[in-house]
Amino acid sequence: MQTSYAPMLTPAPRAAATPSSKELYFMLEHGALAEHRDTARAYLERQLQAARALRDDVPSALAQLGDWMRERSVAVGQQYRAYLDDRRAGAPRRYFASRSHALYFIKAVAPTKLVDGAWLFALLERWEDPDFRPLIQTYLEELGDGIAEKNHVVLYKKLLAGLECDHWQGLDDDKFVQGAIQLALASDATHYLPEIVGYNLGYEQLPLHLLITSYELNELGIDPYYFTLHITVDNAGTGHAHKALQGVQQLMANAADPAEFYRRMLDGYRLNDLGACTTSVIGEFDLEAELVQIMQAKSVVGQNMHSDYCRVAGRSINDWLAEPAQIPHMLLELENAGWIKRGEPAENSRFWKLIQSERAEMFGVFSSYEQQILRDWIATPRTANSGAPAATGARVISFRARQRALETLGDGAATRPNAGKPRGVIRHHPAREADLDAGDGGSELRRLEQRLAAAGSKPAAMTMLIDLMSPARHHSAAGLMATRIFRQLLA
Ligand SMILES: [Fe+2]
Repeated sequence: MQTSYAPMLTPAPRAAATPSSKELYFMLEHGALAEHRDTARAYLERQLQAARALRDDVPSALAQLGDWMRERSVAVGQQYRAYLDDRRAGAPRRYFASRSHALYFIKAVAPTKLVDGAWLFALLERWEDPDFRPLIQTYLEELGDGIAEKNHVVLYKKLLAGLECDHWQGLDDDKFVQGAIQLALASDATHYLPEIVGYNLGYEQLPLHLLITSYELNELGIDPYYFTLHITVDNAGTGHAHKALQGVQQLMANAADPAEFYRRMLDGYRLNDLGACTTSVIGEFDLEAELVQIMQAKSVVGQNMHSDYCRVAGRSINDWLAEPAQIPHMLLELENAGWIKRGEPAENSRFWKLIQSERAEMFGVFSSYEQQILRDWIATPRTANSGAPAATGARVISFRARQRALETLGDGAATRPNAGKPRGVIRHHPAREADLDAGDGGSELRRLEQRLAAAGSKPAAMTMLIDLMSPARHHSAAGLMATRIFRQLLA
């Protein structure tokens, strides 16, 4: 929601009985939403208390919401145009000083992105009520209508895996606040309907940071598809932002107390501003701190793996690694001893060759994410601010330029699986052949078909399908098939 660098807003203090955001996230991430409903409710009450203390820019009357949304959308477009003009005039990237900065962002927002859409899940139960239809459609679109190549969670998982950024579980608590809120809302639509509607209104507005992020990720050679997809689906004309407004209008019209509904809707809207967000994550990045953290994590397994001949400043590497707090000092001594040449391409450093060269002694120790952090840190002169652009040597080819070049060469790998039109939804046999060939997943799908055939009624079948469309399950083979069938039955 923020359109500029913003300080991280701290959630309300934790009461003794309520879990941290991270604890609740992992409690709910694997399913069992109903089992933890009371805990989720206590957590949400704590977050709502914090949200009520925040200011927002939403008009005080429902009748003004449409104009407010359109004006915001126009303003974001103008700000983005100004950004592009600045860039064309030679301004540096506004968000990402280096590729590792961008990868850090992708990893840091993973807990939120991996439960994308979750806050709407509990509305599925109201599938027979047309007033819920706009928000149910939004949830189905988050799920890619059951097409894996369009499912937002599947897409983000692939992005993380391709960049080796998938070790996000150790992130700090503030990175789990938004995901925990989304999962907590998923557990209780009966009690929190106005808050869900308001949270959705805030989440589905097109923010400036999404446009800039997409532009700069592409520039750094990183596939921006997950982000560009949200630029188109969130549009205020016909997209999720429009459906969010429809949802407010239709559901508030039926509220017993519309004024109370609107007040609580605003509380839900403000929940978007708690915890870490895109701009705070980008603003907090510290290249050297991230490298030190990576090296400290390595030291746990690496401290007894080196020979005593490996010495830096008179101490063995095992000695250095035995004291994680000494890692910054060790890096400095590696530099003093000439093993690392800051401000030069990484390839000029002997230390880099231990990690990345033929027969490298430490081959495979660092993931590609970790190597990128090390590479950019080496290439950044010690005197430079850690967030400043690094002297990375060769010019980076943008992601789209690389795709075009590969397509020209006829390389099949250039064709993104999600680039084409969705494959048709099978109307008479919902389990697709590819799904049925998927080993154990295939037999699970056959069992689902059998259970649905025995369901006896449409409501019974829908209940069965909804269970498979939870935030924890919708991206599995069975969840995707359930989503496709649900969509057909809803039509
Ligand atoms: Fe999404």
